[in-house]
Amino acid sequence: MSKKAKRAEAEAEREEKSPLCDRLSFAASESYKLLRSNLTFSLMGNEGCQIIGVTSAIRSEGKSTTSINLSYTLAETGKRVLTIDSDMRLPTINKRLNLRRAPGLSNLLAGISTMNESLQASGVSRNWYVLSAGDIPPNPSELLGSVRLVKLLEAVRKHFDYVILDLPPISIVSDALVVAKHTDGMLMVVRQNYTNQMELARSMRQLIYQQVKLLGFVQTYAATQDKRYGRRYGRYGYGYGYEKTSVSDTEGAYLLDKDEEDSSR
Ligand SMILES: Nc1ncnc2c1ncn2[C@@H]1O[C@H](COP(=O)(O)OP(=O)(O)O)[C@@H](O)[C@H]1O
Ligand SMILES: [Mg+2]
Repeated sequence: MSKKAKRAEAEAEREEKSPLCDRLSFAASESYKLLRSNLTFSLMGNEGCQIIGVTSAIRSEGKSTTSINLSYTLAETGKRVLTIDSDMRLPTINKRLNLRRAPGLSNLLAGISTMNESLQASGVSRNWYVLSAGDIPPNPSELLGSVRLVKLLEAVRKHFDYVILDLPPISIVSDALVVAKHTDGMLMVVRQNYTNQMELARSMRQLIYQQVKLLGFVQTYAATQDKRYGRRYGRYGYGYGYEKTSVSDTEGAYLLDKDEEDSSR
C-alpha cells in the first residue's frame, strides 16, 4: 500500500472514531451546548430561520465536526435543523453520519434532482435533516455562486429553524466567500497550534471585505488545565465579531477539549 493510501486510511479511521452527536463526552457536549447558547445570543433579534456558515482558514481544522455537533445540539432543543455539506470538493458529512452522498447539493444546484430526492433524515434526531454534497462537480464555485443557491436557501428557510452550512476553508478556494454573503452569520473554526496566524488574518480580512457577519470563533483541539474535579474540563469563553472583528478575538473563542473527546473513545 502506498504512503498516500496509508495516510488516507489512517485519516478515515480517525474520523470514524471521532466522537459525534450522542457519543460525545460530557465536557465536549457541554462545550457544544455553550456554543449553542452563545450563538442564540448573538443572533438575538433576528426573526425566522437562521442560516449559519461554518468555515476556517485552512483544511482539517474541525469544520465538519463542528457543523455536525452544532446541528445535533440545536436539534436536541426541538428546533428543525438542516445541515448542508457545502464542501463539494471534500465531502465528509455523509460518511460521518452514514448517509448517501448523492443526490445532494451539487445535483440540486445543477437542476438534475429535486429537494425531495436529495434531502435525508439524519438518522440521529427526528427534526434534523441533511443535504449531502452530491456528485463531485467540476465547478463547485460556479454552482455555489449561482442564483439557484440563493433560491435553494430561500426555499429551505421556510421549513427549518436553522440551516448549518459546512463550507470549505477560505484561504484555499473562493467557495466559502461566495456563499458567506447569503448567510445570517459565519462561525470561524480555529484549530489550536495549527492555523497559521497570517492565513487566519487573511481569511478574516476577506470576510470583513465581504461585509459578512462574523458570529464568533470555535477553537478546536484546545488544551485545558482545569483539573479541579479530577478530570479535565473545557475552558469556555466566547467572542463576537462583527464590529470588533479582529484576529485577537480568537482569545475569547469557544473551546473544545480534544483530550476530553479522546478520553471518551
Ligand atoms: N474539537 C476536536 N477535537 C479533537 N479532534 C477533532 C476536533 N474537531 C475535529 N477533530 C478531528 O480532526 C479531523 C478533521 O476534522 P474535520 O471536522 O473533518 O475538519 P475540516 O472539516 O475542517 O476539514 C477529524 O479527524 C476530526 O475527527
Ligand atoms: Mg470538512
